[in-house]
Amino acid sequence: MVSGTVVALAGVLAGLVYFTFLRKPKWKNAPPGPRGLPLLGNIFQMDKFQHVTFCKWAKEFGPLIRVKFASLNMIVVSDYKMAKEMFSHSSFSGRMDFTPFDLILDGKLHGIINTEGEHWEELRRFTLRQLRDFGFGKGSMQDSIMLEVNELIDLIKENGEKPVDNIKQRLLLAVVNSLWAICTGIRHKQNDKQLLGMSEKANKAFDGVVEGGSVILFVRWLIYAFPKWTGYDKIKVALVDLADYMRKPIIDHKKTRQDDFDRDFTDAFLKEIAKTTDPNSAFMGKLGEDNLVTTLGDLYLAGTDTTATTLSWMILYLSKFPEIQKKFQQEIESVTGNTRPISVSDRPNMPYTEALIAETLRFSSIAPIGVQHRALKDEMYKGYLIPKDTVITANLYHIHFDPKVWTDPENFRPDRFLSPDGKIFKKHDALIPFSTGRRQCLGETLARDSIFLFSTNMAQRFDITFDKNGPENGFECELSFLLKPKRFNVIFKDRLA
Ligand code: HEM
Repeated sequence: MVSGTVVALAGVLAGLVYFTFLRKPKWKNAPPGPRGLPLLGNIFQMDKFQHVTFCKWAKEFGPLIRVKFASLNMIVVSDYKMAKEMFSHSSFSGRMDFTPFDLILDGKLHGIINTEGEHWEELRRFTLRQLRDFGFGKGSMQDSIMLEVNELIDLIKENGEKPVDNIKQRLLLAVVNSLWAICTGIRHKQNDKQLLGMSEKANKAFDGVVEGGSVILFVRWLIYAFPKWTGYDKIKVALVDLADYMRKPIIDHKKTRQDDFDRDFTDAFLKEIAKTTDPNSAFMGKLGEDNLVTTLGDLYLAGTDTTATTLSWMILYLSKFPEIQKKFQQEIESVTGNTRPISVSDRPNMPYTEALIAETLRFSSIAPIGVQHRALKDEMYKGYLIPKDTVITANLYHIHFDPKVWTDPENFRPDRFLSPDGKIFKKHDALIPFSTGRRQCLGETLARDSIFLFSTNMAQRFDITFDKNGPENGFECELSFLLKPKRFNVIFKDRLA
């Protein structure tokens, strides 16, 4: 009798032969890149943190390199001008195929992050417009963020001067709440067990992919051949949980919504579904509802951990660089007299704060290789023919640490974003933490407002010191999709009591 292992191995071999020899892309003059193994390409040359390897190759081979992961061809761009040019081009605005990670799990793609073409454009345009209407960049958004900021400040005050070891988790809930208020009208309690449990499970499952060297992202058939070994079984459970969680508010909204008044994003989306008759539309019938489930999931996944992680880094930096914290607090006091909270309208008068946020986004580079794009058709770039389906990765980490672009990039120095007299904040074209071009982050306004309001109001209220009795990891990162700080403890001392 032929054993299951032999069948699986035969399948693996057949897969390798098919993908390597029968589906050769039509590279003509490919950009330079590292030599790899026959069939497998560069898979086993990757560090656990992929950006580390991409940065090493950028130094060796230049700003545009070609990498191969079995049958998958990738271009890695490590120059900000090239990243801007490529990502502004419609031919490079596709998305790498993430079908196995889609929330609906019916073999198709839904929502914004994973889709491309007309459905992506329709959903992205609608979501941007609605989120703007419901508050992005407006006073109402500020009100809902400030509600969370004040609650967080009260919680920290209650804790007294005991070390806080879970600031990231507290920030996460606060950030989820301000986003969820616009999306679904729901506000969670600080210790909401269901929400925390789901976030933890999803994070663990996805982090498992990274621990496995992200191989399954690039060599897809491994997922189907070895769902347990690759950790895909666990990811599926997390995806089903997440989809169920997103379905709940939709079911409630369907029962209570009224056509003449949209309470939030979910109401507006349901109304769009109800009025859509075009069978090709992303809002049509069942597809429309699946797109709503996934779009809520996208906003949750892309919008919460990212912002909370950036804020955690900022708290760590402030606790490690007390002189920078002092300058930050002095600017806050000079603008508000510490007699009122800071509001978004203070921003133009706070160049040091803007510089500190810019340096935090650069130095943490939490999404070090962004999200992979795909060439929608054969396209020439810089004299190279980039074949359709090539995956394109922007090496944001290298772009933010390139010594040709930044002076002393390894130092945390907000002053680099200031005029010599320190009075004017200077933007830098090479700072692109939200990526660039047609798929640039859709939540940048909300992320920037949240980072500004949380950090300024917390620093106005507290002196933040690093707890020397807690873990000391320098600025090391956890192994995860995002670059997250390893555990650290900080002490908050009330300065306005
Ligand atoms: C500090 C916080 C954040 C960072 C650093 C960040 C970074 C990014 C990056 C690098 C991308 C990939 C863009 C590309 O494909 O080239 C992205 C996409 C995206 N982000 Fe963010 N993001 C943040 C916060 C948010 C927030 C708050 C939201 C929503 C409320 C959000 C929603 C999205 C969505 C929906 C996409 C997919 C866009 C598309 O495919 O068209 N992000 N983000």
